[in-house]
Amino acid sequence: MVIKSASKKTIQEAASILIEGGLVGMPTETVYGLAANALDDKAVASIFEAKGRPAFNPLIIHVPDLEAAQNYVEINDHAKAAAKRFWPGPLTMILPRKSGCGISELASAGLETLAIRVPNHKVAIELLKSCGVPLAAPSANKSGSLSPTSPVHVHASLKDKVDMILAGGASEVGLESTVLDLSGEAPLVLRPGGISAEDISEVLGVNVDYAYLHKEGEQKPKSPGMLLKHYAPRIPVRINAVDVAEDEALLGFGSLKFMGVKGGGFAKDLPEERIRNLSEESDLHEAASNLFAMLKELDDSGARAIAVMSLPDVGIGKAINDRLRRAAEG
Ligand code: TXA
Ligand code: MG
Repeated sequence: MVIKSASKKTIQEAASILIEGGLVGMPTETVYGLAANALDDKAVASIFEAKGRPAFNPLIIHVPDLEAAQNYVEINDHAKAAAKRFWPGPLTMILPRKSGCGISELASAGLETLAIRVPNHKVAIELLKSCGVPLAAPSANKSGSLSPTSPVHVHASLKDKVDMILAGGASEVGLESTVLDLSGEAPLVLRPGGISAEDISEVLGVNVDYAYLHKEGEQKPKSPGMLLKHYAPRIPVRINAVDVAEDEALLGFGSLKFMGVKGGGFAKDLPEERIRNLSEESDLHEAASNLFAMLKELDDSGARAIAVMSLPDVGIGKAINDRLRRAAEG
């Protein structure tokens, strides 16, 4: 059985699994999370794979306290005030990512900001302290099903896709955290949760709006998913490329042996900074873990555009292709 009752020993065991790149079902006060080492691209890719997510949504980074948060994000005055009042607790803050902070680009879907929170759960805090790394964790369920509030729910949804589930009782809140964007000019609630915009307004001393409500007199809530900002390279992206132009960069997958340059020559002879391979072994999991970092490198390579070879549309390949299609449209 992968479910283990939380104790000093099992928390240590879970920490070792996380350090080695595995996945752990972690109790929090909101819902159970599917946790992985946020500094490890491959471990983060496993989260998306286990959930069967058809797209890469940025994930929440969990840390044990405000001090740890400061290693990864720029804490402004609003963030300081909100943390003082609501952490540990069900408030996630979107803040500018610190450059060189080491958090996986896949975890934040290539964005310049990070979602971060300190959970109000003893087991979660002890686990975070034991492993000494930040943990990326979405709700521990298959994509499209209900968020789990007990270890048994996690097991029913994810089965053997999770290496261990730490049982820490039922989640008290039972609803995901409030997501508060503090990276823009005015604070905005991107996802409603237990902590309301009014509660936050009071603490910050400024008006806090719900981003998902229409402004011009409309009552209907917008889908929070539609608000999701996406990382898009500055230069054009061309997908399903079967060759590459001389002034393009190539994002390959698998063997590049037969990839030609338009008008003659081989892709392997392009300047080094304009070739990246998502996975030489055609491993989709590895490709997912490299995707955002490589797109960024090629965006900065001086090329006119990025030609991307096609990837199989199966498993985590669906999420990669979804992301590439969006990058190509933008
Ligand atoms: O209560 C919770 O928040 C749970 C527990 C496990 O902590 N976690 C959770 O994570 O619900 P997840 O990955 O399902 O939700 C993350 C939310 C999404 O709505 C995502 O769009 C948003 O946070 N988000 C993450 N990073 C963001 C960013 N940089 N900018 C805007 N939104 C972001
Ligand atoms: Mg969820």
